[in-house]
Amino acid sequence: MNISNRVNNIKKSAIHEMTRLSKQYDDVAFLSWAKPTSGTPKHINKAAISAIENGLVGGYSQSDGLPELRKEIVKKLKRDNNIEANISQLLVTVGAIEGLAAAVMATIDPDDEVILPTPTYSTHIRQVELASGKPVLVPLIEEEDFALDIEAIKKAITSKTKAIMYCTPNNPTGTVFSENNLRKLADLALENNLTIITDEAYEYFTFDGKKHFSIASIPEMKKNVITAYTFTKSYAMTGWRIGYIHADEGNIPQIKKAHIPFAICAPVVSQYAAIGALKGSQECIKEFRQHYLEMRNLMCERLDKLDSVFQYSKPSGSYLMFPKILGNAGKDSIEFSKKLLNDIKVSTTPGIAFGPTGEGHIRLSFCVSKEMINKAFDRMEKYFK
Ligand SMILES: Cc1ncc(COP(=O)(O)O)c(C=O)c1O
Repeated sequence: MNISNRVNNIKKSAIHEMTRLSKQYDDVAFLSWAKPTSGTPKHINKAAISAIENGLVGGYSQSDGLPELRKEIVKKLKRDNNIEANISQLLVTVGAIEGLAAAVMATIDPDDEVILPTPTYSTHIRQVELASGKPVLVPLIEEEDFALDIEAIKKAITSKTKAIMYCTPNNPTGTVFSENNLRKLADLALENNLTIITDEAYEYFTFDGKKHFSIASIPEMKKNVITAYTFTKSYAMTGWRIGYIHADEGNIPQIKKAHIPFAICAPVVSQYAAIGALKGSQECIKEFRQHYLEMRNLMCERLDKLDSVFQYSKPSGSYLMFPKILGNAGKDSIEFSKKLLNDIKVSTTPGIAFGPTGEGHIRLSFCVSKEMINKAFDRMEKYFK
């Protein structure tokens, strides 16, 4: 079979490789998955079951999504993101990921440059590569808890730069990018006519009084921002594959031209589940956030006891953190993660998976149970003693 250079050049995902290796062992302590471990709340399941029983899910929906769902999303954007939207600014997608893929396709021509502050979610880098764009990786400032480096981003802008793509709260570092920095980024985008593509999958999971800020809430940015949101994290709906894009109504028809050949429409049963999620009680989000906060605190306490092995910044968002591996062991994060798995059955994600500036780190997920964190750290404490 002939494989395109575009696809051939994409490196194997270290995340999926670790998952594959982990399957060879029993009783693995998993800190490598970024998916919520709790089940989807019952009222959301019921909304889907009722749509199935009423014969509503057998066909395609409008490719931009059910109007009833988009109306609920409009209310949510106003309530939680300070964004005044209307339904023609929305595209319901197969998770945030398909929406982002369509957004990148709609924005990037071959050889266009996309600035990605890194470490970042590796899928974003691949999406740029799939569109034959050139990812330009600009390091976050690790000493400032992985904050955006606005000056470095400014310097990285060339005549070929088309977009800046980031996620806040950040995967893998757990940083919540500050409103102040995001306003500076918005100014840069406006001065240079760039599109901001933002992934706000972890929008509800922020701690210690840190506030999530949606750059699309800046009215002047209306035409320059594409934002991806998802039900995956907020409502523990990973497998339902449902999310949405918000952008200017002039840009949605263009993004839709990429969305249709990728997906036609988002799964209709999941769209009904999403209506159930938005219309129902939002208590589940608070409960998830509280759980993640407790697990973050536990993970940090346990990491404090391993201070000769790791150094870390306390994450203020998401359910992920990105400790630095101290000493020689930090030279090769794949080697380090493999050793932890082989020797003590602790599964982590090598930092190199998130761009070259991620080398020397591992990503740990705290969207797990207390027992899982304790199991992993009991093993590591014994191992590194
Ligand atoms: C930053 C980020 N965006 C998007 C996703 C996936 O979102 P979805 O399931 O909605 O496609 C993930 C999953 O880990 C993520 O970490």
